[in-house]
Amino acid sequence: MFKKTLLSVLILFVLLSTSHSEDGYELWLRYKKCDQPQLLASYRNHFSGIFLAGNHPSIDAAFSEMVHGLSGIMDKNIPLLKSPQEGAILIGTVTELFPHLQKLSPSFKRPVVPQKKEGYVVVRIPYKQHGLTIITSTSPVGVLYGSFHLLRLLQSQTPVEKLAANESPALDLRMLNHWDNLTRHVERGYAGIALWNWHTLPDYKDPRYTDYARANASLGINAVTVTNVNANALVLTKPYLEKLQALADIFRPYGIRLFLTARFSAPIELDKFKTADPLDEGVKAWWKRKTDEIYQYIPDFGGFLVKANSEGQPGPQNYKRNHADGANMLADAVAPHGGNIVWRAFVYNPESDDRFKQAYEEFKPLDGQFRNNVLVQVKNGPIDFQPREPFSPLFGAISKTPLIMEFQITQEYLGQATHLVYQAPMFKEVLNAETFSNGKPATVLNVIEQRLRPDALTGIAGVANIGNDRNWTGHLFGQANWYAFGRLAWNPNLSSESIAEEWIRQTFNNHPVTVQTVQKMMMGSHESLVRYMTPLGLAHIMGNGHHYGPLPWGNTLGRPDWNPVYYHRADSFGIGFNRTATGTNALAQYAPEVRKQWEDSNSCDEKYLLWFHHVSWQHKMKSGKTLWQELTDHYYQGVNDMRKMKVEWSGLVKKIDPERFNHVSMLLGIQEKEAVWWRNACLLYFQTFSKMPIPAHYEQPDQTLEYYKSLRFPYAPGN
Ligand code: GCU
Repeated sequence: MFKKTLLSVLILFVLLSTSHSEDGYELWLRYKKCDQPQLLASYRNHFSGIFLAGNHPSIDAAFSEMVHGLSGIMDKNIPLLKSPQEGAILIGTVTELFPHLQKLSPSFKRPVVPQKKEGYVVVRIPYKQHGLTIITSTSPVGVLYGSFHLLRLLQSQTPVEKLAANESPALDLRMLNHWDNLTRHVERGYAGIALWNWHTLPDYKDPRYTDYARANASLGINAVTVTNVNANALVLTKPYLEKLQALADIFRPYGIRLFLTARFSAPIELDKFKTADPLDEGVKAWWKRKTDEIYQYIPDFGGFLVKANSEGQPGPQNYKRNHADGANMLADAVAPHGGNIVWRAFVYNPESDDRFKQAYEEFKPLDGQFRNNVLVQVKNGPIDFQPREPFSPLFGAISKTPLIMEFQITQEYLGQATHLVYQAPMFKEVLNAETFSNGKPATVLNVIEQRLRPDALTGIAGVANIGNDRNWTGHLFGQANWYAFGRLAWNPNLSSESIAEEWIRQTFNNHPVTVQTVQKMMMGSHESLVRYMTPLGLAHIMGNGHHYGPLPWGNTLGRPDWNPVYYHRADSFGIGFNRTATGTNALAQYAPEVRKQWEDSNSCDEKYLLWFHHVSWQHKMKSGKTLWQELTDHYYQGVNDMRKMKVEWSGLVKKIDPERFNHVSMLLGIQEKEAVWWRNACLLYFQTFSKMPIPAHYEQPDQTLEYYKSLRFPYAPGN
């Protein structure tokens, strides 16, 4: 008997201790006890309880987050106060909160809050000994955002005197696009299967859906499409609408609106229509009915995200109509409900001489023809989420249609979930790129920020890297990309360094060695990946289909523009894609000033050199070296950078808990192997054209080109 009890106590102990293990589930919302005794004491003095003004699901969410967060950080219970008193944190919309402040003291002024609905302020005001902390906004969701902001500051060990914020989002739609199929397979997903368990929804409401919503709200992400752009019409049927309703109900208090991907041929597939022609009256009526039905389940439904006439997806061109015809038909269906259509510009047809030019060729002529509630979503670069791309020429060419930026957070072409790559510097490189808008100099960010009409939305979307892996993103550092995307969507002017720092402090700890080391690793990681994968403007030389590993020799796919050789064009003369006037002239899609900086191979920024020029192996680089030498150096430096990163991480063994330390260490081991693989395979292959040596002082490839060519990965993930 005694033995049995002891055993169950032991089991319970093991269960309790494992449930506290650092598996990454808690993301950046860990709320660990503050480890600075003085600061902890100060927090405990200044925060004695929470006073809630008003009653709203978002305010309730703010309250439970604050209780969870503060009780963790201060390691003490946080009472809900019946009336405000010194040391109280007052949470509520300004209209509801102000009367309570006035009751405390008529001399208190009404807090000044940002005009934007989602904006908020966090202020400390003097009152008796310990003062008051106010979190307020014009809207409940603003209050929730403000609460997360305060918790972020506390987790980063901000002293009480510095607790202040006055924030408004730069962009209206801050959206995650999940490429999740109804089978739960995630296209380009490397973190398990989809979070949404369609089979058990709507009745089984996995608490994880709420944790997902919390994480998004903590960053200000306010819109999600939960289904793949390669859409399945079934999601528009009643059983799925019931499931979607359950998700939307969970997301709503967190300020998140649900969008769906629409399969253009849905009337044919679901209701045996003969056509899906957007100008057909029957088709129009079908979408109106369908949309009305969706709004019955989800009154704040955001609208549709559409991939049409791209990579085999149906669309208006099947009926000799154009993208505007298709988008406008759907726009009219959602307009009475205040919905929007996000129409993707990721298109390319096999006939064109350069895939680079196609989105521009199809969309530029349609500028001005879209309804007011249509937004065109453009990938950051002209091809497809490569490790580095010049910005898409559509940013600057379209002036009458709101453009949404599309980034890919999931690392389809960036080492998938085994490579540590912090994407903020890459996102910022695109946002800060200089283009023209209506003939005036503007950055890409200026283009997406401008409000073309008072009722038009602005926005940014990121293809999610989230799955049902316990740590959400497969690689723990994938969390930093979700984080950085959300933070930049809210405030694109934040620096990559500061976002990394915030994330590290909340995710790991505030120790200066942890912060500095991890920040350094993160900041260099994207550039080193570019070096060991696609230096100097190479692109799309990954494995077929799954895009895993190097395949620069790839030349077997049916369409030329799917093959790596199409992109690098290596031959005995040199390498690179001539997109100048003597080549495909894709450069002409940029404003003359933009074009000018890239059109001469001698002055072109070398990080884009092979994007725009076919240059000889002997081409003299700015360093004085030949192109071949420089290419070789980049590949070797990429591997060296990667090895340094590994050493830096190993120095943190005493600073990071063993679970997460080992997780990252093992992945860095894989990354190192793969970086060497990329370097060797690419250089051995390009050497067959350049006929030039890999300098003898470099470690030489330990395998032959034939060996690398023989590798096959039919089951690489995410395909
Ligand atoms: C890439 C990706 C596809 C995806 C497509 C898109 O081509 O490989 O899986 O469907 O982008 O953005 O639509």
